Amino acid sequence: NKNEKIQLLRDAIVSYPDFPKPGVIFRDIFGIFRNIVAMRAMKDLIVEHILFLEVDLVVGLDSRGFLLGPIICMELGKPFLPIRKKGKLPGNVVQHAFNLEYGEATFEIQTEYVKKGARTIIIDDLLATGGSMVAAIELLKLSGAEVIECLTIIELSGLKGREKLGIPVHSLVQYD
Ligand code: PRP
Ligand code: ADE
Repeated sequence: NKNEKIQLLRDAIVSYPDFPKPGVIFRDIFGIFRNIVAMRAMKDLIVEHILFLEVDLVVGLDSRGFLLGPIICMELGKPFLPIRKKGKLPGNVVQHAFNLEYGEATFEIQTEYVKKGARTIIIDDLLATGGSMVAAIELLKLSGAEVIECLTIIELSGLKGREKLGIPVHSLVQYD
């Protein structure tokens, strides 16, 4: 059942104190990918959740969001579009700068591939300060999409990223 699957994920995520900087506890999503049972549980939990949403487009964030988005797209039969750190995407891009838990970055999207009004979900491994997610929401709004939900495997609840988004967030495993 659902709680057992969530517990599988929690057990698979490895926490590393003081990485990549002193004071940060790094929650490593790759523990889930080393464990096929946990990986299937993760896929099931995401798919069970989004089957109720009407989704036109799935957007994943550089880089760990790229591991998750296409899995869901296969199940939904909907396209995947990446948001990448600047300088990586060709063609017509729009960009937005932001801060995150341990640094700063600029995101870009290939805006021409977003259909006006597309019902879009954004997926990433982890919500920390919410800086990345806010920038992604901004890029999608600039591109004409309707962002209906943000989905992450891990949420660092103590950083209150959720409160910055103005869009519903769904996460599978929370840490204070
Ligand atoms: C991490 C993580 C999220 C973001 C969350 O990515 O994968 O994308 O930080 O932090 P925030 O909520 O404070 O914005 P990172 O920028 O380290 O890039 P990576 O996925 O390429 O490792
Ligand atoms: N991205 C931002 N903060 C993080 C954390 N504490 N663990 C893993 N990825 C992160």
